Amino acid sequence: MKHFIDINNLKKKEIDEIISLAIKIKKNPKKYSSSCKDKTLGLIFEKQSLRTRLSFNIGMQKLGGYVLELQSKDIGFDNKREKVEDVLNVLSQYIDCVMIRNNNHKQILNLSKANILPIINGLTEYSHPCQILGDFLTLQECLKGKKNANIAWIGDYNNVLRSLIHLQNIYNFKLNLIIPIEVFKKYKREFQDFKNKNLNYFSDPVLGTKNSNCIMTDVWVSMGEKNINKKKYFKNYTVNKKIISNAANNVIFMHCLPAKRGQEVTSEVLDGKNSVVLMQAKNRMYIQQAILIYVLKK
Ligand code: CP
Ligand code: NVA
Repeated sequence: MKHFIDINNLKKKEIDEIISLAIKIKKNPKKYSSSCKDKTLGLIFEKQSLRTRLSFNIGMQKLGGYVLELQSKDIGFDNKREKVEDVLNVLSQYIDCVMIRNNNHKQILNLSKANILPIINGLTEYSHPCQILGDFLTLQECLKGKKNANIAWIGDYNNVLRSLIHLQNIYNFKLNLIIPIEVFKKYKREFQDFKNKNLNYFSDPVLGTKNSNCIMTDVWVSMGEKNINKKKYFKNYTVNKKIISNAANNVIFMHCLPAKRGQEVTSEVLDGKNSVVLMQAKNRMYIQQAILIYVLKK
C-alpha cells in the first residue's frame, strides 16, 4: 500500500514521476478525466483549509472520482468515541484513500504503518509535503533554464520549511534559510542533520537574500501554535521592496498562503509583479491529482 506522508520517504525517481505526471495533467487534463473513476477520496480536516480542501476536492472530481468531506468531530476521529484505527477500518469499507490534516504527525505516521487505507498528509505541525511538491512544480515553471538557482526562505522554521528542506536534501539545490537566531536555536540540532554545502543558515535578511532567484516565506505563527510571543523576533524579516530589490533580477516571490499582510510580507510585494502566489495555489491541484494517481495505483 502506498502513502504520501513526507518527501523524505520518497525516492527521487518517485518525485520526478509525480512532477512529470502533474505537468502532463496540466497540459492535457481531459486525458486524465477517468484516471480515478469509481474511486473515493475522504478528506479529514482538524484545522482550517481553503487551498488544500479545494485542490483535492476539485482535483479528484476532475479525475472522475468522488470526494467525501469528513469533519473529524462529526465522525469521531479523536480516539474518544472509538479508536482512530477503528474509524479507518470502517472507512476502508467505503472509500479508497484518505487525506488527513491535523496537529499530530505521529498519529498520521502510525496510521500509515497500519496500512489500512492509503493516507495523504494534508499538513501537520511537522510538514506540508503536498505544498512543497506543488511549489517545486511552480519553481520549475518559473525558473526554467536557470541553472543553480538560489532559493531563499525567510521567516519561521515550520512545517512548510521542513518539507522544503526534505526536498533540498534530495535535489541539492541552493537554499538559504534566513531565520531569527532566537527561533533557529530551537531547531539547530535538527538543522545539523539536514545540513549540506548548499543548505546554509543566515540571520541577516539582506545578506541571506542577496542574489536570490526565489524568495519564499510563510506566516510567523502557524495554525495551532501556542507561542505567539515569538513574533517579536521577526521585526526585520518582512519581505518588502528593499529585500526584493536586493535579490536577483526577476526574482520570484512565493508564499503558500494564507498570508498575514504587513507581517511576513507587504501588500506591495504580495500583489506585485514578482509574486507567483496564485500560480502556486493553482499548481496545488495538478500536484494533488498526481499524488492521488500515485497512491491509488496498484
Ligand atoms: N497553503 C495551504 O495549504 O492553504 P490552506 O491552508 O488554505 O489549505
Ligand atoms: N505554516 C502554515 C501553513 C499553512 C498552509 C500553518 O501551518 O499554519
